[in-house]
Order: sequence, then C-alpha cells, then structure tokens
Amino acid sequence: MDGLAERAARWRWLTVASGEAAKEMATAEGLWQRLLAAGGKRDSRILALGGGSVGDLAGFVAGCFLRGVEYAQLPTTLLAQVDAAVGGKTAVNLPGAKNSVGLFHHPALVVADTGCLSTLPRRELRSGLAEVIKMAALLDTRLLGQVERRWDRLVAADPEALAPVVAAAVRAKATVVVADPTEAGERRLLNFGHTLGHAIETVSGYRRLRHGEAVAYGMLFALRLARARGLPARDADRLRAVIRRLDLPPLPKLARAGLLAAMARDKKTREAGLAWVLPESLGRGRIVSDVGAAELRRQLSAFLADPWA
Ligand SMILES: NC(=O)c1ccc[n+]([C@@H]2O[C@H](COP(=O)([O-])OP(=O)(O)OC[C@H]3O[C@@H](n4cnc5c(N)ncnc54)[C@H](O)[C@@H]3O)[C@@H](O)[C@H]2O)c1
Repeated sequence: MDGLAERAARWRWLTVASGEAAKEMATAEGLWQRLLAAGGKRDSRILALGGGSVGDLAGFVAGCFLRGVEYAQLPTTLLAQVDAAVGGKTAVNLPGAKNSVGLFHHPALVVADTGCLSTLPRRELRSGLAEVIKMAALLDTRLLGQVERRWDRLVAADPEALAPVVAAAVRAKATVVVADPTEAGERRLLNFGHTLGHAIETVSGYRRLRHGEAVAYGMLFALRLARARGLPARDADRLRAVIRRLDLPPLPKLARAGLLAAMARDKKTREAGLAWVLPESLGRGRIVSDVGAAELRRQLSAFLADPWA
C-alpha cells in the first residue's frame, strides 16, 4: 500500500468479514456507500486482496459501482489463485442460494504470489489442491503428473513448488474461459465434481466441508458414472489415488433425497435436466445428460454407503 500511495490520488482500506460471510448484498451495499463517501470515480480501481470470497465480492462491487470500474485480483488462497480469481465470475449469496446474484466482470489484472500461501491453514491448501486436480484431470495430464510427483512439497506450501502448478492451472482455466467466456459450452468442463459437490455443500449448510473438499467428493461420484460409460479402470484408479492423498474429512451423513432435490434446484441445472461432467479418459471430459433417475438413485445410494468403493 505504501507503493500505491505514491501513485494513487488517494486510497482506502475497505475490510470485510472473513470467509463466506462477506458475500452478502448488505456488505456490497456498505462498500458502495463507502466508495462514494471516499470520492470513488469511474477511473477508481478496486484491488481484491484475499481469498475467493473477497474476490467474488470485490468483483461484484466493481462490476456494479458507477456501472463498472476496473479491478485487480490479488488472491491469497490456493483455491482463489488457481480458480476463483480467473474467469470473471463474480457473485454474492442470497439466503439459501449461493452465488445467485452476480455478473461476469473480468479483472484487469491477477497477481498470484505463492509466498502468501505459507500462512494458509493446511486444510484450505488441500481444498485448493482439489481444484488443481479437477483441472489437471480433464485439461492437462502433465499437470496431474507434476502434482503427483511434487505432492509433499505442495502440501507443505513450498512457494517454489506451488508457483509452476498455479501457473499451469491458470493457463488451463484461461484457455477454456477465452474460448467460452459465458459458460455456454466447453467452460462447463470446469464444473467436474460440482454437480454433486454443490449439492453436498447446500445440504450440509456450507459448514462441514470446504468447497474443494465437496468438489473432491463430487469427482469421486462422477468417476462412478464415468466408469459405467467406459472410463478405463486405470484412469479412474489413478484419479482416485490422487484424491485420496487430499486426506479428506469424512463425508457427513447426508440424505439421498436432500441431495437429489438440491441438484434439481442448482442454477447449473438446465430445463433439459441435470448435466454431468465426466472424464472419458484422463485429459478428456464431456458433458453428459443421459444419467437416468433410477441409475442416479442407485449410484448415489452406493456412494453414500462408501464413497471410495
Ligand atoms: N468466481 C469463481 O470462478 C469461483 C471459483 C471457485 C470458488 N469461488 C468462490 O470462492 C469462495 C471460496 O474461496 P476460498 O476457498 O479462497 O475461501 P475464503 O475466501 O472464504 O478464505 C478462506 C479462509 O482463509 C482465510 N485466508 C485467506 N488468505 C489467507 C492467507 N494467505 N493466510 C491465512 N488465511 C487466509 C480467509 O480469511 C478465510 O477465513 C467461495 O465463495 C466460492 O463460491 C469462486
């Protein structure tokens, strides 16, 4: 901030509650008022320093303030560095409806400093690694190999081991986003593990599992559906083995009916029904909408009985 003070006409710290609690309409409104009171103009800029919660909120606030001002993402969690800070999705939550109000507003700049991650709780780091595995599985098998080989250094938050992994994950995500900025097609591949993952988060009230942990369980479930559609066993086994290394907390006790209802309500569900992102092989994914109700109920019961089977 000292460096910025030399270049900016004026600057202010605007702080918000830690974590998901920040992503509320009332917080956004408070920030707009504080921006106006501080003399914010069309050429003011917002710097989002924090995890994905801060990034999503700040991007939303920037996208609406005076019909849109520039912002930069300075992500401080691994999840935000590899995923949330890139791609221009911004949002706040409504009660019971996560990310339901927002807009696509791309940051002018993203600066990911892996040195920031040394203070991150290990559980948050592993949650970010789950998103790296998600992208590597469908978009970049070399990245998957890198994650497997450097695992011990990655979970120890070694900034030098993390830097090339963050760079590769961002490259993979950016390539998909550039080709499909509004998620009409290929960008949906980034939702691998999210169909069930989001439902798990909704049903367990966002308290029991971190986002990446829920996505990891979602990927495990997607692997079952994919195996039934021809994913080779060795590919499924390799992915399951790397997900196992995340050392996930146990899956909370969840009712099948609640998960099915949450999936039906999810904003990614189309009129045509539930869409699943499934690997065909490592490095290749496709969107599938032919999972029938009976198959889904059967597979979900088996998964809830033993997610790892
Ligand atoms: N926009 C997108 O494309 C996208 C993609 C994925 C996730 N998300 C969103 O991101 C959010 C989750 O982001 P997250 O996992 O970064 O969590 P988070 O932003 O809630 O941060 C988790 C915790 O880590 C703390 N923290 C942040 N940086 C730290 C550091 N360097 N050292 C110590 N503690 C630190 C925070 O204060 C918070 O308590 C969710 O709201 C999710 O919806 C958005």
